Amino acid sequence: MIRAKLLLTLLFGTLGVAACFTSGPEQFSIRESREPAASLFRQNCAICHGPEGEGRMLDDGTLVPSLRRGEFKRITEQEIYEQIAEGGNGMLPFRNQLTEREMRLLSDLVRNKLRQ
Ligand code: HEC
Repeated sequence: MIRAKLLLTLLFGTLGVAACFTSGPEQFSIRESREPAASLFRQNCAICHGPEGEGRMLDDGTLVPSLRRGEFKRITEQEIYEQIAEGGNGMLPFRNQLTEREMRLLSDLVRNKLRQ
């Protein structure tokens, strides 16, 4: 009897641990990534969009949108590129701060890694 209980505990314990590892698709972590785009994001974008691009409210009350989920205004990689280059509506333009290549890396990151 005690052995059966122990066996059950072990069984459900293992299932529980397995569930933790298999729940949901792996989320791309900006903080942990060594990609150049992630490092550019940490330096230029995290201050407003949050360390994982989840969006946040700035001290002045500006609501910075999540780059991962929700209703997106900029859909294609080109539109995202233009938002980064031109800014607008509370976002700074980056065309004088970043090279075209860096802005392309960032639009790829937003479109293909953060949004899924
Ligand atoms: C000064 C704060 C600030 C910084 C810095 C900033 N953003 Fe933004 N960003 C915003 C705000 C505010 C909006 C919402 C603009 C709007 O509603 O049109 C926005 C919108 C966006 C959008 C469009 C989201 C949508 O709905 O499709 C993208 C993509 C984006 N930002 C990417 C970036 C990237 C990449 C960087 C770094 C290079 C960056 N932002 C830096 C404040 C910021």
